[in-house]
Amino acid sequence: MNSAEHQDQAAASCERVLSGMRPTGALHLGHYHGALKNWAQLQRDHDCLFFVADWHALTTHYDSPEIISAHTHDMVVDWLAAGVDPQQSTLFVQSRVPEHAELFLLLGMGTPLAWLERVPTYKEQISNLKDKDLLTYGFLGYPLLQAADILIYQARWVPVGADQVPHIEMSREIARRFNTLYGKDAGIEAAARAAAERLPEDSRGQLASLRRAADQEGRVEQRDAARALVAASKLSRSDRQALLAQIDGGRRSILREPEALLTPESRLPGLDGRKMSKSYGNSIAIREERGSVEQKIRRMPTDPARVRRSDPGNPERCPVWQFHLAYSDAACREWVQRGCTSAGIGCLECKQPVIDSVLREQQPMLERAQPYVDQPALVRDILDAGCQRAQQAARETMREVREAMGLRAPS
Ligand code: TRP
Ligand code: SF4
Repeated sequence: MNSAEHQDQAAASCERVLSGMRPTGALHLGHYHGALKNWAQLQRDHDCLFFVADWHALTTHYDSPEIISAHTHDMVVDWLAAGVDPQQSTLFVQSRVPEHAELFLLLGMGTPLAWLERVPTYKEQISNLKDKDLLTYGFLGYPLLQAADILIYQARWVPVGADQVPHIEMSREIARRFNTLYGKDAGIEAAARAAAERLPEDSRGQLASLRRAADQEGRVEQRDAARALVAASKLSRSDRQALLAQIDGGRRSILREPEALLTPESRLPGLDGRKMSKSYGNSIAIREERGSVEQKIRRMPTDPARVRRSDPGNPERCPVWQFHLAYSDAACREWVQRGCTSAGIGCLECKQPVIDSVLREQQPMLERAQPYVDQPALVRDILDAGCQRAQQAARETMREVREAMGLRAPS
């Protein structure tokens, strides 16, 4: 599901949203347009948890632990700069809620190795990052750790980019498998039968035939339709839960199946037209200094055909045009099109409105960041409070997980 559809569907809901980011240090405008702007939007009508995935960073950078804490701090300041609001959202650090590790361990017991080996990024990354030895247990297990991150909060929505969707899919499978293995419950059939009696007769018949189609013919849409029917009914919460449990195969749902909430691809490329990335050296930081923004944009490559000021150009061959598409209104774009193709304007002239727009976008972010730059302890306080809140939620899930797996809580 994409963001726009989601906004329609979940307009008034306050279901839990969870997302994480590896601590990479100062973030750039690609992160802002590709993730943070969306987080700041979601927090307005959802219970949002956002965390620094520091253990995830160690799955690939286990040999450079010195970067973790500085990068964590800088990244969280950028979240705050981008408008992620600690009054509305819970901000925390993965390693400070060690319950994630316990769930990761327990989920690992029943997770088939093949599920991890077939995650698309696994083999890809191993061959992409040749200078690192990633044939490690930690790297193989990283999508399972991600599943634990999500499932431990019973999150409903996980805003991510397209590259992460397979991980969310796997989290769903893992939740389902866990519920199948550990959620057996004889009482469910009886409770569901009693609940169905309380449905209006036509809904009861409809539900029965949807379930039959789902169970006997394996039709997924029918299962979804059955769930929707129950969700829309006027039954009590416990009746609805009993019916939902029956639809899901007579199991208690201990871990909730999350859903990916696809963040639309950022329209902003890097300064050279490739994807914006710190490692390509083509990025503008969220809190980049004014002078440096100006200089970077002035030095952007343009259509190579415009060697002299009098040579006409083609915006389609120019990364500056992509910035105009992201930032400029119709009148300004029209001015660029005409001026470029007729050599009526120079490239520096063309870049000025882009410079102005980027600086204008950054201004409120710089202002929001200032208190945290002046008083770094504020960030510490935010994370302390967030970790505490997150841990409380994580502990609730772990209580149920331990019980379902026959374990006692540590005393
Ligand atoms: N794997 C994600 C990334 O590399 C980060 C991440 C870790 C994450 N755990 C998560 C994202 C849980 C969403 C939910 O970008
Ligand atoms: Fe690019 Fe603008 Fe120069 Fe045309 S005028 S080449 S769009 S910078």
